[in-house]
Amino acid sequence: MFEITSIILAAGEGKRMKSALPKVLHPVCGRPAIDYSVQLAQKLGSKKILTVVSKLKSDLVLQHLKNFKDLKIVFQSSPMGTGHAVQSCVTSLNGSKGYVLILYGDVPLIQEKTLKQFLNLVSLEKATLGLITTVTQEPQGYGRIVRDSSAKVLRIVEEKEASQTEKQIQEINTGIYAVKTDWLLQTLKKLKPHPVSGEYYLTDIVEAAIQNREPMVSMTCNGLGEFLGINTRKQLSEAIELMKDRLIEKWMTEGVTFIDPRHVYIDSDVTIGQECVIHPQVYLQGKTEIGKNCVIECGAVLKDMVVGDNVHIKPYCVLEESIIESEAQIGPFARLRPGSQVGKKARVGNFVELKKTKLGAGAKANHLSYLGDADIGAETNVGCGTITCNYDGVKKHPTKIGKKVFVGSDVQFVAPVKVGDGAYIGAGSTITEDVPSGALAIARQRQVNKKGWAKKKNSKS
Ligand code: UD1
Ligand code: CA
Repeated sequence: MFEITSIILAAGEGKRMKSALPKVLHPVCGRPAIDYSVQLAQKLGSKKILTVVSKLKSDLVLQHLKNFKDLKIVFQSSPMGTGHAVQSCVTSLNGSKGYVLILYGDVPLIQEKTLKQFLNLVSLEKATLGLITTVTQEPQGYGRIVRDSSAKVLRIVEEKEASQTEKQIQEINTGIYAVKTDWLLQTLKKLKPHPVSGEYYLTDIVEAAIQNREPMVSMTCNGLGEFLGINTRKQLSEAIELMKDRLIEKWMTEGVTFIDPRHVYIDSDVTIGQECVIHPQVYLQGKTEIGKNCVIECGAVLKDMVVGDNVHIKPYCVLEESIIESEAQIGPFARLRPGSQVGKKARVGNFVELKKTKLGAGAKANHLSYLGDADIGAETNVGCGTITCNYDGVKKHPTKIGKKVFVGSDVQFVAPVKVGDGAYIGAGSTITEDVPSGALAIARQRQVNKKGWAKKKNSKS
């Protein structure tokens, strides 16, 4: 095919979002909206990717775009319309051959296969300009495609300038164009501001191509789906829903069961192994990776987690930036804070919180515990109500507990402290000194039973 330079427009003010966050940074399934367009441009093998950002309000966008190495940033002096935004790219386009593909930072749902089909069509027809249109029952807000009686495209009219009859048109401009670079460079010079808005419209290149009798091709799709633009919070929620449905469908195709797919949320970078069963109200966020054959029950929230195979996560767990090895069981109501690791076949039960804590293979902390900055050996049992006192008010300190240790209920480990393999800790102990391997440590007051005490007390009163 031909050489492609992609231009991603992202300098608009996004006024309709009513947001302090630039609209292209609003997340859609865990990624800022603009990332989808950048990644698409990359996948299509663009020779160059130019991203147009506002000179006035671009700090956050610029900072974010640093995550992508191969982008060229172009500044638009002020938001004077889509035509003006592309005009800002003229210098950067010098020397580019082939075609310019126009994409948008606020249109994240377009699929690679659709654009490939479109670019093939443009190439086949040797068109100077190709555009994608789509037919929708909700054309409000979009530019309408005006065709003549023989169905040839005449021009694009924006909602603001459309007559009542034109507003009835259901075929809209997706805003995606592939344009021969040299022709675009000439045509951009001729754009004039529109009297109503004072903006330069990129859509005017369509009329220019017609007047010039340039070969043109339009690909008409069905429905807004892939082309939904995010201009309002409502459209943002629609885009999120569409993206989420697409992701869930993909994972179903890969062999994952969703009991109630409408009420599960999955971010774009999540991966899920075959035979997993995902219950309602589960939220899988960030770069979470889930192995095969896991069950994730109702209300679990996982963020940037790595989960092995055959893991069972019971209802209402909140798990973040941690590792769960295969066959482990978590919850219900468990909390893993960043930097934790639950070993193979280990168990973390209800109301147990781990922070930067490693629980060895087969170890158990089944009830009501806080374990922070701790390293707990394989097959150790942590009794109900046990806590690590890891913070002295200034610094955090580690607790190291060996293998096959039995920790009775309601024990406090005042860190830093170490317990050797196979030791026993009596219930209710406050452990302030290291415990050697195989020892029994008891650190509590001896019980005193005062016989007949109650009777004496009662006789006094
Ligand atoms: C634009 C099209 C409309 C189309 C719709 C599809 C024009 C005039 N209108 O309208 O026909 O149906 O997209 O979604 O092109 N931008 C800049 N600089 C600016 C103005 C905008 O970079 O000065 C960027 C925005 O960040 C955004 C994109 O261009 O990513 C589109 O701008 P927006 O104002 O959202 O245009 P629409 O009204 O949606
Ligand atoms: Ca838009």
